[in-house]
Amino acid sequence: MCRTDRVPTAGILWLALVVIMFVARSIAADHKDLIHDVSYDFHGRRMATCSSDQSVKVWDRSENGEWHCTASWKTHSGSVWRVTWAHPEFGQVLASCSFDRTAAVWEEIVGESNDKQRGLSHWIKRTTLVDSRTSVTDVKFAPKHMGLMLTTCSADGVVRIYEAPDVMNLSQWSLQHEISCKLSCSCISWNPSSSRAHPPMFAVGSDDSNVTYGGKVQIYEYNENTRKYAKAETLMTVTDAVHDIAFAPNLGRSFHVLAIATKDVRIFKLVPMRSDRKESTSTGPTKLEVQIVAQFDNHNSQVWRVSWNITSTLLASSGDDGCVRLWKANYMDNWKCTGILKGDGSPLTSSSGQPTAMSTIVGSSVQTSQNALNGMSAGRYFFPPLDPPRAGTRYGHLLPPSSLIEHCDAEPIQPQQALPYRLSSRALLPLPEAEGQ
Ligand SMILES: *[C@@H]1O[C@H](CO)[C@@H](O)[C@H](O)[C@H]1NC(C)=O
Ligand SMILES: *[C@@H]1O[C@H](CO)[C@@H](O)[C@H](O)[C@H]1NC(C)=O
Ligand SMILES: *[C@@H]1O[C@H](CO)[C@@H](O)[C@H](O)[C@H]1NC(C)=O
Repeated sequence: MCRTDRVPTAGILWLALVVIMFVARSIAADHKDLIHDVSYDFHGRRMATCSSDQSVKVWDRSENGEWHCTASWKTHSGSVWRVTWAHPEFGQVLASCSFDRTAAVWEEIVGESNDKQRGLSHWIKRTTLVDSRTSVTDVKFAPKHMGLMLTTCSADGVVRIYEAPDVMNLSQWSLQHEISCKLSCSCISWNPSSSRAHPPMFAVGSDDSNVTYGGKVQIYEYNENTRKYAKAETLMTVTDAVHDIAFAPNLGRSFHVLAIATKDVRIFKLVPMRSDRKESTSTGPTKLEVQIVAQFDNHNSQVWRVSWNITSTLLASSGDDGCVRLWKANYMDNWKCTGILKGDGSPLTSSSGQPTAMSTIVGSSVQTSQNALNGMSAGRYFFPPLDPPRAGTRYGHLLPPSSLIEHCDAEPIQPQQALPYRLSSRALLPLPEAEGQ
């Protein structure tokens, strides 16, 4: 089923940023309609947003930690659902996908010195991928070790994998694979594992809400012999509409971990079964043993995004209850809620109800009650991946004391009514950061 396009509505959208794990800040994104996606670059220093206003904006983080919009341009003739960065090895490259049935690849070119002084940059369209006959609902670059490859999925249930044979010429993309998933696709995620033991694998989710169609998550694997992708598994227990899907960073594990945003949050473990010697010449995909390791309905509503941190020990989810929830496993692989961030713009409070100064977390920076997570739109809560502040950055090792976040057994807030967009009544100032102080 296609999503209908929206009539643009004027208004400033407040964009929520979970910049440093639990430290949230808001910026005025100034998109003219719903923001559908937020994406960080590899280093977490650049950010791209996309909206129903048909535009993409690029944001750069300055030395003092503030985000500045350095480019904003009309990318499509319909709502832009997703935007994503290529690995920086391939240059400053973005891909976007839209209700207008296309996906596009954009490259930043070094601007005129005038623009540079004004802090602006230029993005030019390198290609438009026009193979889909319906809305293109997600776009993702394949893991870097596979080369420069781009995947799209669309409402007509087709996954397309493109390759740029010449990484120096981004105008040239060839359609390598077209895989029919039979169900309207809403989201796609590549398994990031670069282990030779794991053939390329991706998961695709469907937002078809008809439960009689069975499993809404399918896993596909590349087969060296046939040179094709084949379905390895369908997660039959996920029968409701799926909005987002995310493989956890692999870090040398033999199995895969997959998070799913549907009417609740689910975490699955996919364990490749060792094939018998006799069968090693078989051309079938790897058999996967599927185990559900966690299922949480705490959002009590549709869940829109799931995102892992780089160590894959922490999962964040956002839902129609207006909250971002954080989940963590102990050494026994028991997953528990470890925190809740309110999405209504109210301050994060400690259990005593006082606004909490977070100075202990980020060194000398002073974090106040303005430090709020804010700005959700239409239940399509956007929140950036938690992984960009990578290990090695100054926040990599920092975790707030547990008093900074609400305890999960306390019901945090009443579910809010989802508004088409939210206008913040108070300007939330960018917060000072520890750097250079
Ligand atoms: C890049 O590829 C396009 C399409 O094949 C071609 O027209 C163009 O000349 C190429 N550009 C360069 C610099 O090679
Ligand atoms: C779900 O699909 C089945 C089989 O096509 C159909 O009979 C049924 O009416 C559908 N249900 C809804 C709610 O669309
Ligand atoms: C990921 O989460 C764990 C907590 O489970 C934390 O120790 C680690 O620092 C986080 N990694 C990053 C990069 O934020």
